Amino acid sequence: MALQIVVLAAGQGKRMVSTLPKVLHRLAGKPLLEHVLTTAAELGSAREPIVIYGHQGERLRESLPSTKVRWVEQKQQLGTGDALKHALPFIDPEDQVLILYGDVPLISAQTLMRLMSETPKKGMGLVTATLHYPKGYGRIKRDKQKRVTAVVEEKDATTRELAIQEVNSGIYVVPASYLKKWLPQLKNNNAQKEFYLTDIIPAAVKGKIRIHTVQPTNAQEILGVNDREQLAYLEKYHQLLTAEKWMQQGVTLMDATRFDVRGEVHIGRDTTIDINVILEGRVVIGEGCVIGANCVLRNTTVGDGVEIKPFSYLDGAEVDHHCLVGPYARLRPGAVLAAQVHIGNFVEIKNSRIGEGTKINHLSYVGDSEVGKRVNIGAGTITCNYDGVNKHKTIIGDRVQVGSDSTLVAPVTIHDDAYVAAATTIRNDVPSGALVYNKREECIREGWAFKKVKQKE
Ligand code: UD1
Ligand code: CA
Repeated sequence: MALQIVVLAAGQGKRMVSTLPKVLHRLAGKPLLEHVLTTAAELGSAREPIVIYGHQGERLRESLPSTKVRWVEQKQQLGTGDALKHALPFIDPEDQVLILYGDVPLISAQTLMRLMSETPKKGMGLVTATLHYPKGYGRIKRDKQKRVTAVVEEKDATTRELAIQEVNSGIYVVPASYLKKWLPQLKNNNAQKEFYLTDIIPAAVKGKIRIHTVQPTNAQEILGVNDREQLAYLEKYHQLLTAEKWMQQGVTLMDATRFDVRGEVHIGRDTTIDINVILEGRVVIGEGCVIGANCVLRNTTVGDGVEIKPFSYLDGAEVDHHCLVGPYARLRPGAVLAAQVHIGNFVEIKNSRIGEGTKINHLSYVGDSEVGKRVNIGAGTITCNYDGVNKHKTIIGDRVQVGSDSTLVAPVTIHDDAYVAAATTIRNDVPSGALVYNKREECIREGWAFKKVKQKE
């Protein structure tokens, strides 16, 4: 008897009002369906999960490239019961079936493990939760002995039934043999003219199959995403859980409600993160760092003791220990900063390695460059890396001083210890230890401005 997971994900998601299939909407930067499949993978089943899909199957597959899944199409969305029926031909009759939903993204592996371990093998298990605001969910009906007798959908419920606060998560564990018997018998004589999967509950009751229910520790685990409001609510809830986790690991968050993680991150101890920081993709932050307000870090690695000042955007960057970045810095893909580099305001670095202790503090663009150690690049320096057709490299040796407002026309090399005077345009390589400047006359006309003022008068 093996575990077969089936994820129902074929619904259109009309209430999302979207051209994107609902299960591809993102929560914490990841498609809803991917959350479910990640959790499913934690259960360690030997079988590939079956995903029932409806619309835009190609798009679904493309969005989840790394996941091994058996895709089964449900051409017409005739209800959750009909959806599961499509999986039946691919299920071994000896298996236990765990039914999950593409739009219920936060169900935890712990709750599912409990569901499976507590449900007797010949019984049927069901995850329920008690919600203060049960609107939209199927309500759990119980008899005097508190045994589950049915799930009634909101659209079919009486006023009395609507007052029930225990709701159906839609997540069940059932022996496949029962499903093979029950699903072909489902009827669609209800308010929505759908084949309801919930009707397997009265079928179980009739067959004297015990129904065991499990409630998650956090009721939020069972919340579904049917519209964008619910998506926003779950996003916030999930972000708070993530924030709590990092605070427990020794990270100071100035405001846990203004911290967003959209990917896989690691944050070292004693790092302090100010408000409105977004971490996207794979982000690693070392120990004892300070990340200022309103910074975005995407696919970026930051060493220990780094300070990123407010309003900086780091994308695809590697920042070694004790660097100082920002405020208002932009590190683009391939920006690699060695230790103790200073990058100041309105500086953009792209595809460039910057050597240890180098400072680029104001208003500069450095692209496709190799910059040595302890270089100082003055304000307003630009590497002219693009000639309209090709990108070229700028190489700057160790201890080079580049004066303000210089333009370095690539391909060009400035060797170690050279000195570039302010406002120099460099087109030729500069030898080691040389001074380079452009001949330009500086003209002064005494009294010129005074005369001009007089003319006006
Ligand atoms: C369903 C349950 C309800 C439960 C709720 C929990 C039924 C009849 N109702 O209602 O008791 O409280 O989930 O979230 O089961 N789907 C298909 N094919 C279809 C229809 C749906 O694959 O033909 C998929 C959807 O993509 C979705 C899931 O099944 O992932 C649930 O469908 P949805 O229409 O959202 O059901 P609810 O009205 O939320
Ligand atoms: Ca739903």
